[in-house]
Amino acid sequence: MTAEGEALVGGMLNTGAVFRRGALVERPAPRNARALHACLLALKEHGFDAAPAPVGLTADGREQLTFIPGDVALPPFPDWAMTKTALASVGSLLRRMHEAGRAVAVDTRAEWPGDLADPEGGTMLCHNDVCPENVVFRDGRAAALIDFDMAAPGRPLWDVAMTARYWVPMLDPASAAAHYPAGSDVPARLRILADGYGLSPRDRADLPCVIEQATEVCRAFVARRVADGDPVYLQALAERGGWERWDRMRTWLVDHRHTFTAALLS
Ligand SMILES: Nc1ncnc2c1ncn2[C@@H]1O[C@H](COP(=O)(O)OP(=O)(O)O)[C@@H](O)[C@H]1O
Ligand SMILES: [Mg+2]
Repeated sequence: MTAEGEALVGGMLNTGAVFRRGALVERPAPRNARALHACLLALKEHGFDAAPAPVGLTADGREQLTFIPGDVALPPFPDWAMTKTALASVGSLLRRMHEAGRAVAVDTRAEWPGDLADPEGGTMLCHNDVCPENVVFRDGRAAALIDFDMAAPGRPLWDVAMTARYWVPMLDPASAAAHYPAGSDVPARLRILADGYGLSPRDRADLPCVIEQATEVCRAFVARRVADGDPVYLQALAERGGWERWDRMRTWLVDHRHTFTAALLS
């Protein structure tokens, strides 16, 4: 506990800058905070209450949001966060957000972050960073999405692909080993996520390629952070096996593309 409140850990982007003060969370406000807060409020009005409610912006550039009680999985991810029930619930929670999002007009004039955004664009507010650290669980099920810093308009399928990367995870076994339980059945887990979301047959057919595309976007994001000398990303890259790991993930995704498609459509 500090004068600023209780420091919350879990992220890489705002490390050391997210604090809880009672029922509120204070964190650096993203540049597009006003447009984002309007979207979060509109999502709530359309029935999606499983996200922090924006409370305000401070004069010193921070945003205030409601704190959501529950458990957030941090790496190495515990078994409770990697159950089939947990995975399916993440899919259905994302679908709930997208269903409400259909009725929400995203302000396209706002400066949405391009970092993890769908390169093909779109009209739906996508979270883009549904990793375990950004989902609050209660009773073994996903209860809320948090940390909308990377949210931007895109195709809903893009959000499913990003979520699959982190939650299945769509990583070769050696890359997954550092943070995830060993021996996971990737095609079966991808299917569970798609079923939890209620993904259409057409989107299922496209998902493996969109995951490959999303992986390239994540790689480019890390490359930009590293080129900028960001110490958190430099250290993470070195610890996790450098660019060789990203090469290995790319090859593994291409090699298994048909296996994933078969599992999704069987
Ligand atoms: N509104 C919230 N409700 C509950 N926990 C939160 C909330 N916001 C942040 N946290 C906790 O703080 C951690 C870091 O916050 P986050 O906003 O994800 O920062 P970062 O941008 O660094 O990823 C999260 O992983 C979560 O554990
Ligand atoms: Mg986070």
